[in-house]
Amino acid sequence: MQRLLIQLPKTAALRLLAVVATVLVARAEDAKPVSYYHDIVPVFKRSCTGCHHPGKLKGDFDLTTHAALKKGGKHGVEFKAGDPAGSRLIEEISGEEPSMPKEGDPLSKEEIALITRWVKEGASDDTPSDQLNPFKLTAPPVYPAPSVISALAYSPDGNILAVSGYHEVLLHKPDGSGLIARLVGESTRIESLAFSQDGKLLAVSGGAPALFGEIQIWDVTSHALLHSYKVSADSLYGVAFSPDAKRVSFGGADKSVRILAVDDGKELMKFDNHSDWVFGTLFTVDGKRLLTGSRDRSMKLINPENGQFIDDINKLLENVLCIARNPKEDVVIYGGEQGTARIYKIAENQGRTAANNDVNLVRELERMPGAIHAVAYSLDGAQVALGGIGGEVRVYKTADGARTMTLKGHEGAVFALAYNPAKPQIATGGYEGKIRLFDSAKGDLEKAFIPFPIKETQVAGK
Ligand code: HEC
Repeated sequence: MQRLLIQLPKTAALRLLAVVATVLVARAEDAKPVSYYHDIVPVFKRSCTGCHHPGKLKGDFDLTTHAALKKGGKHGVEFKAGDPAGSRLIEEISGEEPSMPKEGDPLSKEEIALITRWVKEGASDDTPSDQLNPFKLTAPPVYPAPSVISALAYSPDGNILAVSGYHEVLLHKPDGSGLIARLVGESTRIESLAFSQDGKLLAVSGGAPALFGEIQIWDVTSHALLHSYKVSADSLYGVAFSPDAKRVSFGGADKSVRILAVDDGKELMKFDNHSDWVFGTLFTVDGKRLLTGSRDRSMKLINPENGQFIDDINKLLENVLCIARNPKEDVVIYGGEQGTARIYKIAENQGRTAANNDVNLVRELERMPGAIHAVAYSLDGAQVALGGIGGEVRVYKTADGARTMTLKGHEGAVFALAYNPAKPQIATGGYEGKIRLFDSAKGDLEKAFIPFPIKETQVAGK
């Protein structure tokens, strides 16, 4: 070798060295240990975690993280590092008729060999540290000033008022006397909030405009984030639970309407019949129909089982910015971009013909000063409250459409309204970042508070 090199011209010798080096690197690639993060996780994600994740623990076995995998399942540890033959994990996926995955295609020979080799090589975890918890705010958000409030919701028992913040939802005591919890998540903007009827879950829709849309499902008691489902590449709006809380519906800036299974995020329905952003979705009382409202001016009735379009229930008059259902019956109100709110029966009218036929219309309310961004029904369905660009909230009797109150004092637009289910009170929020609590029988302001922990910015040099 020595002599060969000496006899070769210098460039050729270097070239030869380069070739030898390449071959050695290639060998090293072959012998490289199997990577849990790059090789194994994608297989588990495709074939296993649908049944083995924290929200659905078949065999009490969670396959979504290395730590959970190591912990094992119902029958204890699933693998012995270095000993594939003695590992239940390998046993379950191998053989003529492997028992796992329980449904779907068995793993390929190559995949089984890869997992076997990984266990043999010690089953180590090479998850990059920044991926262990893909979203991490090192500290909860800090507010130099009140944030715009885009959504409000009371828990069904009236014990919690959920408020949209920046990167989080804040759970407040309903009288504004204190913060209960901060639900910090990945979405920078929260667009809508909904409690399940039993009050156990809170669904949040939001995202980061033009980046991602997200549905978060929170456990209201433990304040744990149960699920985060990334859907579409843009913000999501108008989240609603089905009556049994097994499904969530929502619309998007991508003009779609979707329904996901709450437990595993499976897309159960996608509806693409709107031609503009969809701001609101809701289920009928029996859960058998879905109603959506869009900037394309229509409210569409959909079969949530198969995504079949049934009918537009309204005449297309103005952009629909927000919708709410009467808690008692299948009646819906929308707030329009031109300032008019209209109440409709949610009914299938096969006889309805041309678009100029507004047969489901129950009542049109007086025009508000500017676009309506928030609408809410009182629990008994006797009142509706409307808020928007004009900065005042108006309350109407649904029976005859008469205005009963005007709630004033907001600085700037109102974007969120909610009726307290436990007492006659309305919460309002919007541009100024303040919650106002009004007596919904008399119209008096009972309390105003800033729901965000405001941190005074330090003055330089102090
Ligand atoms: C369709 C659902 C489903 C899928 C997909 C699935 N499993 Fe399972 N798994 C189960 C159920 C159910 C059990 C409980 C035992 C049983 O009934 O057989 C289980 C049990 C197990 C256990 C035993 C846990 C214990 O300690 O008892 C292992 C290991 C396991 N699964 C591994 C996997 C792997 C690896 C995959 C992917 C290749 C996978 N499973 C995919 C449903 C599933």
